Amino acid sequence: MDEDAFRKQFMKKSVFRQLSSLDKSIVPEKLFCREDEVSTLIVNYRRILEEEEQPSINCLILGKGGVGKTCTARYFGKNFYTIAIEKDVNLFLEYFDCINFRSKSKIIRELLAKYTHGSGRGYSDDEALKLILTKLIRDKGYMLLIIDEVHLLKPDEILAFLNIAETFGHQNAKLSILLICRGTDWMRIESERILSRLNQKIELKPYNFEESMKILQYRSEIALKEDVIDEDLVTMIAQIVVENKNMRHGIEILRKSGLFCDKEGFDHITAEIIREASDDVYPTFRADIIDGLKDQELLALLGIVRTLINNGTPFALVDDAFEEYQSICESYSVEPHVKMSFRKYVRQLAQLKIIASKTVRIEDATRGRHLEITLLDIPAGKLAELLEDIFERKFTK
Ligand SMILES: Nc1ncnc2c1ncn2[C@@H]1O[C@H](COP(=O)(O)OP(=O)(O)OP(=O)(O)O)[C@@H](O)[C@H]1O
Ligand SMILES: [Mg+2]
Repeated sequence: MDEDAFRKQFMKKSVFRQLSSLDKSIVPEKLFCREDEVSTLIVNYRRILEEEEQPSINCLILGKGGVGKTCTARYFGKNFYTIAIEKDVNLFLEYFDCINFRSKSKIIRELLAKYTHGSGRGYSDDEALKLILTKLIRDKGYMLLIIDEVHLLKPDEILAFLNIAETFGHQNAKLSILLICRGTDWMRIESERILSRLNQKIELKPYNFEESMKILQYRSEIALKEDVIDEDLVTMIAQIVVENKNMRHGIEILRKSGLFCDKEGFDHITAEIIREASDDVYPTFRADIIDGLKDQELLALLGIVRTLINNGTPFALVDDAFEEYQSICESYSVEPHVKMSFRKYVRQLAQLKIIASKTVRIEDATRGRHLEITLLDIPAGKLAELLEDIFERKFTK
């Protein structure tokens, strides 16, 4: 490509008014179809702004993937913050996704660094928390802590968060918590003790057709220019959303269809483009989890994916994947870790539900047992493409 051709690309019109409005981290300006759930949150947390002693409130948002848990919580947080400031409450809003902060300690250290500028080295979690709570009281502040994907914490870590007011005294805990979790993951976590610390559980149901229509119409109006998408086509996407019970699928289809138009120079979306985009979206697969992986986990995952592709089998053996991982490390000039660490990365990937692993007994007794790994949610070839993209950015200079 020469410079002229390069420039020409920029002269092309885009079908997007605001592509960034479809980004994963965006909280939409308006939240449709979650009025009841937001009202429930308001009823619970408004006491912080209205009562002298500012109580500690703990709620939990539950629901399947892509039903708007994260977006509802963040929408609530953002608007609650605005009202708090109007009412002269010095609110600190903090959002943590446990994909990036995988333990209670990590979250507390991050808060400590932010609010007291200390590293927290040498402090226990409780000591560090105490410093944060003291700082809040000194600043006449109050913290709303939103913890997403909370199933990645250990149940006793979750309990410790919910227990802060009991542990440090209600008058000392100027802090409330909002947890977010998928329903199936929560079943593993719930206990009497955890339940007794929750003010309310709020369950989000998947959107029905009318609701999906409303949301998609609104999101496409913001993201796309006029006349780029017909109502019929929004209907088509809404049907796909209802079928999969997952709004993320719909938002991804909008994004992919628009990008396809821009690339090919089309000025509007067609049914065929939507069908193709839909085939290219794996509704239960979460690219944001892959983005949050540590380098060694990424290398281990590519090892697994390459083994699956090479073998052409639905599962890979951990030993083969380890060998593949070692050669990948070598090709990117990264020091490979030992097999025990590799197994740890495999366990972490399984915990994040990117892969599933199971131990199987081998007939031949001398070889004992081995670990079989399979990919969930996305074909190996697709994931390899995605990972190679990330590796391009990360490891090659
Ligand atoms: N009521 C709504 N209005 C506008 N956009 C919405 C609404 N509900 C969901 N979305 C959009 O749908 C996508 C999926 O929603 P979200 O990420 O909140 O799902 P989730 O329940 O947190 O899923 P997961 O369990 O996979 O994290 C996001 O892009 C979000 O902005
Ligand atoms: Mg979420």
